[in-house]
Amino acid sequence: MKLALLSVVILSIWTCVKGDEHDHNYQNQEEVVLWMNTVGPYHNRQETYNYFSLPFCKGEKTTISHYHESLADAIQGVELEFSGLDIAFKVNKPSAKVCEMDVNEENFQSLKYAVDNHYWYQMYIDDLPIWGIVGEVDQSKDYYIWTHKKFEIGYNDNQIVDVNLTSETKAKLTVGSKMMFTYEVTWKPSTTLFSKRYDKYLDPNFFQHRIHWFSIFNSFMMVIFLVGLVSMILMRTLRKDYARYSKEDDLDDMERDLGDEYGWKQVHGDVFRSASYPLLFSSLVGSGYQLAVVGFLVIVMSIIGDLYTERGSILTTSIFVYAATAPVNGYFGGSLYSRQSGKGWIKQMLFSTALFPSMICGTAFLINFVAIYYRASRAIPFTSMLSVAAICLFVILPLNLVGTVLGRNMAGTPDYPCRINTVPRPIPEKK
Ligand SMILES: *[C@@H]1O[C@H](CO)[C@@H](O)[C@H](O)[C@H]1NC(C)=O
Repeated sequence: MKLALLSVVILSIWTCVKGDEHDHNYQNQEEVVLWMNTVGPYHNRQETYNYFSLPFCKGEKTTISHYHESLADAIQGVELEFSGLDIAFKVNKPSAKVCEMDVNEENFQSLKYAVDNHYWYQMYIDDLPIWGIVGEVDQSKDYYIWTHKKFEIGYNDNQIVDVNLTSETKAKLTVGSKMMFTYEVTWKPSTTLFSKRYDKYLDPNFFQHRIHWFSIFNSFMMVIFLVGLVSMILMRTLRKDYARYSKEDDLDDMERDLGDEYGWKQVHGDVFRSASYPLLFSSLVGSGYQLAVVGFLVIVMSIIGDLYTERGSILTTSIFVYAATAPVNGYFGGSLYSRQSGKGWIKQMLFSTALFPSMICGTAFLINFVAIYYRASRAIPFTSMLSVAAICLFVILPLNLVGTVLGRNMAGTPDYPCRINTVPRPIPEKK
């Protein structure tokens, strides 16, 4: 019964993450949906708002045959809205009207603000991102809005492999005028393979991204320098200690036992002592192991697979890898806790399960408040929060339990190389 419930939950989470993403194959004249995503200042790409938070008007078409949204989309604040443009596969469309907007004082102010801050918007066709700029301002402080969107869509067989957007026709922004938005679609055969359609965005010339070789080199040298410095200091101290130890090797055992220890040997009786807060300590260590494994696996997966080709798939993958690696947390946290002779292992397990997710959720919650206040598109919907909570409760927790039980049984008994002093050694005064 419990198992059945669990599998239902996992299944529903899986489908909710997977969404009803269509298979990217189109028939002739099949509807192609242009999704409007976000709009925001060009110079701060973290700041995004819903496209229709600006007074843009929608096209006439209101119904679409499918819709998709994944968990990662929701968490990343991707909120796709149908543009209302009527686009059909391989059907060229000469310039057509989208809609007409009355520029009243309020619309004027918000569009003026958008142009002043170099707002740009983002859209998706068949998961391919497209960007366009809202408008521009000329020397005489006149504001213009680009009103004509020209789509050039490349197709290969029955798949969409390339999209270009050109913004044309500037219209002057004045209060009381009417602004007409138009669009046009041209379909062109292309030889780009479907599997290579994202390569265009990886080309460094596309975004004019530059790899910062100098700063990579700089940080690298800094790391080498610091590691060298620290190891040099350590080596010197250790060598001094070793010299003294070997000098005293000829003293007999009796005398050595009485004599005070010095150097790094001073800590041998305390280094394996249980932490003052074993619960917190072992949970932190366990979560740390888990995060390291998650980071490593996600990096490997994104090198091997093409995670960038689907929106939000890196986040989806991370969430799944995090859930799947929960036993790592349980194993290392639980075994450490048991070695530190902690008593409440169930408490420790619950705590370590909740530690990282709750920190993330706490932060996200605060940010969410701010986001809702500013009506930013990053606000996370309540249902996504629920699915995240469900993943924590029904996937991460049981897996963590498995890990904890394994860890306690396989590595739960202490086998320290040296004895722990009964009385903790006082930390010496700083000289
Ligand atoms: C899009 O623009 C690029 C670069 O100008 C060009 O190589 C490509 O053929 C264009 N694609 C379409 C479908 O027009």
